[in-house]
Amino acid sequence: MLIFLDTANIEHIRHAARLGVISGVTTNPSLVAREEGVDFKAAIQEICSIVPGPGTVSAEVLSLEAEGMIEEARQLSSWAPNIAVKIPVSEAGLEAISVLSREKVKTNFTLCFSVNQALLGAIVGATYVSPFVGRLDDIGHQGMEVVADAVQIFRHYNLSTQVIAASLRHPLHVIAAAKAGAHVATVPYNVLMQMIRHPLTDIGISRFAEDWKKVSNK
Ligand code: E4P
Repeated sequence: MLIFLDTANIEHIRHAARLGVISGVTTNPSLVAREEGVDFKAAIQEICSIVPGPGTVSAEVLSLEAEGMIEEARQLSSWAPNIAVKIPVSEAGLEAISVLSREKVKTNFTLCFSVNQALLGAIVGATYVSPFVGRLDDIGHQGMEVVADAVQIFRHYNLSTQVIAASLRHPLHVIAAAKAGAHVATVPYNVLMQMIRHPLTDIGISRFAEDWKKVSNK
């Protein structure tokens, strides 16, 4: 399973890339809006130059009509070779991805909340589908079941679409995504940091350092 970072924060992306653990980034309009004064195109291009791959950088369209989505997607995908255009689940979104997949534009079918939506995205040739696990959990559904079912169905029919477990809120979500066979887990920066840290590791490191001091003081 690949790890993508779910943010538009350049410093966080730089840090995670230095750690060598991420191979892609997902952004959305809310995440971009959180970063003050950024120029969307410049920010996406900078992110594309930072992330090492083999994953992609997702940037979302704002149009709600198929024609507008297609036009925006063509623009966005011309900004860098590793862009995946995020297109929300809708009839227009399906129509747009049908066209874009024939043009080899990479797409991420986003705001996916059901297995049927994921299946339709795969049928029209989306590069990725993104079930939003946390938002489903929030309303009392088992969000990870959508991930697991989509993975199973895509495997069964040899569909090349990859499943991104999205809207992950804590480290247990990441483990569950890996167990469910997700191709990618896109994680917020704080979750990535939580995945690294463990209090027993911290205690162990300081104990080793203290013990070593005693030896070197002898
Ligand atoms: C994924 O591509 C989305 O950007 C993201 O995971 C949404 O997460 P949220 O539900 O925490 O906003």
